[in-house]
Amino acid sequence: MRKVNFTETVLRDANQSLIATRLPYDKFEPILETMNKAGYYSAEVWGGATFDVCLRYLREDPWDRLRKIRKKMPDTKLQMLLRGQNILGYKHYPDDVVRKFVEHSVKNGIDIIRIFDALNDVRNLEVAIDETVKQGAHASGTICFTTSPVHTLEKNVKMVKDLKKMGVKSICIKDMAGIMGPKEAYDLVSAIKDAVPELPLVIHTHCTTGLAFMTCLKGVEAGADVLDTAISPMSGGTAQPATETLAYALRSLGYQVDLDDKVLIKMADFFKGVRAGFIKDGTLDPISMATDTQCLNYQIPGGMLSNLISQLKMMNAIDKLDEALAETPKVRADMGYPPLVTPTSQMVGSQAVQNVLAGERYKVVGKEIKAYCRGEYGRTPAPIDAKIQKKILGNTPVVKGRFADSLEPEFEKTKKELGATAKSDEDVLSYIAFPQVAMAFFKDREAGFPKKEEPKAAAPAAAPAPKAPATPRPAPRTAPVYYAAAPAPAMPGYTARPIPPFAASYQPPHLVMGVRDDCTGTFTVTIDGKPYQVAVERADGPAPAAAAPAAPVAAAPAAAPAPAAAPAPAAAPAPAPAPAAAPAAVAAGETAVNSPMPGNVFKVECKPGQAVKAGDVLVILEAMKMEIEVSAPVDGTVKAVAATVGSTVNTDDLLVTLG
Ligand code: CO
Repeated sequence: MRKVNFTETVLRDANQSLIATRLPYDKFEPILETMNKAGYYSAEVWGGATFDVCLRYLREDPWDRLRKIRKKMPDTKLQMLLRGQNILGYKHYPDDVVRKFVEHSVKNGIDIIRIFDALNDVRNLEVAIDETVKQGAHASGTICFTTSPVHTLEKNVKMVKDLKKMGVKSICIKDMAGIMGPKEAYDLVSAIKDAVPELPLVIHTHCTTGLAFMTCLKGVEAGADVLDTAISPMSGGTAQPATETLAYALRSLGYQVDLDDKVLIKMADFFKGVRAGFIKDGTLDPISMATDTQCLNYQIPGGMLSNLISQLKMMNAIDKLDEALAETPKVRADMGYPPLVTPTSQMVGSQAVQNVLAGERYKVVGKEIKAYCRGEYGRTPAPIDAKIQKKILGNTPVVKGRFADSLEPEFEKTKKELGATAKSDEDVLSYIAFPQVAMAFFKDREAGFPKKEEPKAAAPAAAPAPKAPATPRPAPRTAPVYYAAAPAPAMPGYTARPIPPFAASYQPPHLVMGVRDDCTGTFTVTIDGKPYQVAVERADGPAPAAAAPAAPVAAAPAAAPAPAAAPAPAAAPAPAPAPAAAPAAVAAGETAVNSPMPGNVFKVECKPGQAVKAGDVLVILEAMKMEIEVSAPVDGTVKAVAATVGSTVNTDDLLVTLG
């Protein structure tokens, strides 16, 4: 009798796909000892977005979470998801950081590391796999499944053989969008099993399109050894197929399944309660639980669609959703058919939205897409459209070879810089992966996690949605902008509901700040761990120049703790929205540089009086999870800077005046 094994995803992928990874440790701790007895091949409990969300929202040390799970589940192999050279962040890290990250993941309790690269460029997997093997853990080499004219069986088989040479102990087909049908699974599993019969093969898919159960079954028939599933209450929709359902079906077909049904029942009972809580507070959107066949056309991974919806709502452009969805596959083709998975899913999705909102394709281009076109993310499956690449890059040279080879070691240097702020090597790694977020977390931890008002986006689900104002403006922020408190206009086909935290695949903005539209004064803003003094005045205030350049007050991140005077975002309700910087009239001979799209001002790169050349970057916006560079359209001198770091701007808001 052939045996089929199961990997339980409830704590990582199901948590990430259905409830934006918002499951805190305390909520699932009571079930861990039970789960430990279920008989799983492994439990996926860490990595992916869990790390970021722990630090950013849950006030949890992700490393501590891992150690606690390890203690409660001594008999189950713990598994994590690692983005190869991107570790758990969104950019490429130098090799020493990748190695340290793997080392400490294993030290803190991980047994199996599933390692993938968004472009399936094996050069980006090499170091992580090598270190995993060195640490004595199990490296699972991963193929990101996608369909395109250039993704052939031969190509996948070649990749699997490369992975085997690197020392992986298993292969995973990662179908992050749930677009792999039973036929594709059968063919691909057969081809891989023919090529590397000795390596266990894992199928990872999502129920988004409704194909998953059939896909798993045909995959098993073709020889797959392990299935990723989620305990039933947290299964389906954008998550994995249900553990119990597949166990039942496979047993009835004569396969051996070594799961303890009694334990599964206890787990299901427990997670029903968990799910109920998240439905009640609006975190679990019924849409995430539904079947959406649109994904078969758009190849939008679980999470990306809800993410696009949230972002468009925030920009009051939800009517552009269909256009943005139609643009997505076009952008993907232009970019050489990258599989859509973090971070390429965000990049392609955001670019599609930008193309639609700007009214001209690739007029506004994110920094990440620029880096992608330069080759910083690796080799694209097919060449990037040459004309578009030229439009995006201009004369910027393209990277030759593996991008990480050009990066200087970072770990020891950062450790020194952080000094006593980092209590452990794990802290250093958290900081390298998410500098601002980790720094805020360290401070919060230092202060003993004082109680604070949670930004509540959610009105009770049953309450009628407030009527949207005729021209809704973003609400004044007391919370980070991505909580988008503005009521969304009604949209056909989608239930109006308060915007909860962003979906799992959300790539966080670079700033978490409490600057309010109605606040003026001096603030300390921490960027990349370094405190900056920023004077904030109302846009109609007397001295616009005073509001502009943020002068660094300290060079080393740990040097200056933020002064106690830094205003905590007050919990008091904000007064009537102060009008954001109205596009000031520009005198004759002057050039207004306006915001090309709604976003946050991330950096101001110019000062009044400074001479600039056409093409020089003046301001960097953070919008659609991307850094958008706004450049000078002409040569000139900076007359005034209206943009202030951290402020929200809308399309056509004045950023800089050139004279
Ligand atoms: Co997944």
